[in-house]
Amino acid sequence: MDKFRNFTIDIETRLAHMKPVELIKLPIKNEMELFEKKFKDSMLSKVPLLNRITYYIVRRKGKQMRPMFVFLVAKMVSDGGFDERTYRGASVVELIHTATLVHDDVVDDSNRRRGFFSLNALWKNKIAVLVGDFLLSKGLLLSIDNEDFDLLKLISIAVREMSEGELLQIEKARKLDITEDVYFDIIRQKTATLIAACCGIGAASVGANQDTIQQMRKFGEYIGIAFQIKDDLFDYTDGKIGKPTGIDIKEQKMTLPLIHTLNTCTYREKSWLINSIKKHNKDQKRVKEVIAFVKANGGIEYTTTKMYDYKNRALTILENYPESPYKSSLITMIDYVVERKI
Ligand code: IPE
Ligand code: IPE
Ligand code: MG
Ligand code: MG
Repeated sequence: MDKFRNFTIDIETRLAHMKPVELIKLPIKNEMELFEKKFKDSMLSKVPLLNRITYYIVRRKGKQMRPMFVFLVAKMVSDGGFDERTYRGASVVELIHTATLVHDDVVDDSNRRRGFFSLNALWKNKIAVLVGDFLLSKGLLLSIDNEDFDLLKLISIAVREMSEGELLQIEKARKLDITEDVYFDIIRQKTATLIAACCGIGAASVGANQDTIQQMRKFGEYIGIAFQIKDDLFDYTDGKIGKPTGIDIKEQKMTLPLIHTLNTCTYREKSWLINSIKKHNKDQKRVKEVIAFVKANGGIEYTTTKMYDYKNRALTILENYPESPYKSSLITMIDYVVERKI
């Protein structure tokens, strides 16, 4: 009896010491391992330069949250079921995600990604743009070659929306007339739509019905919104997150903490803020002052409350599904999205 108790305590202590990502991966450990190999193979090319670059990408891998969503949702909605299509879906979303990050760093003129140099920093914009296109086409072809047309449709919607979101963001950065509604439109399109596709694809890959697929898309959209809000909050910190912080204002990208501050401050303060972003956005001292002003005016608290609101919307959807290790992992994952340090 005592032996059994010690054993349980032992497991509990081990679980308590595991990192959130390791905990999340527990019920999909084998799938994630096999995925890594398939993902690597999905990028092969006959061009040596391209292979050198994709080798670099694979070595500097990210958190791989999107494939985790694909696997966990597939298993949750089908009670542990699985299909070769699920692997392909996971590879497609990670390929598209990687392609958009490579392009995004060109667009944002950012020289760091995943704790190291971005592709544009190492190989310049020309090559980064072409590598992004290559990864995008590889993703789409993976679905086409295997006739996963339902998955292809879900991913293509996301690709279109992501480009629209990034462009809408540029338009607003130029005019500096962004409202809270437009901010949510932008982050839904540039980030949440891909996470929605991950969850939709997970469900579709195991033959779930349309209602479930759409419900899972909504679930992914809510998490995706919380995810981007968290990313925007990082920009107001000086945490070591593997990419630059304080870059949004420099790029005249107005995110929720600033939008809220603009909506609540005096006319004079608003003029000062707009002027800072318009004319002094490359002045580090001024950017720091803007950040301090936003912090002192409750911009961070307001934004954090909104983030939790979306987290809770995602949790509510999960209530429709029976308890399972996959559902538990998804709950841990939602928590990780808003509490993570990178
Ligand atoms: C970064 O996504 C891009 C955003 C949508 C904010 P991740 O934070 O998931 O990037 P990696 O893959 O882990 O590097
Ligand atoms: C997110 O945009 C990336 C895409 C959706 C393509 P950001 O520009 O806000 O993300 P990071 O901070 O560079 O990862
Ligand atoms: Mg960007
Ligand atoms: Mg960026």
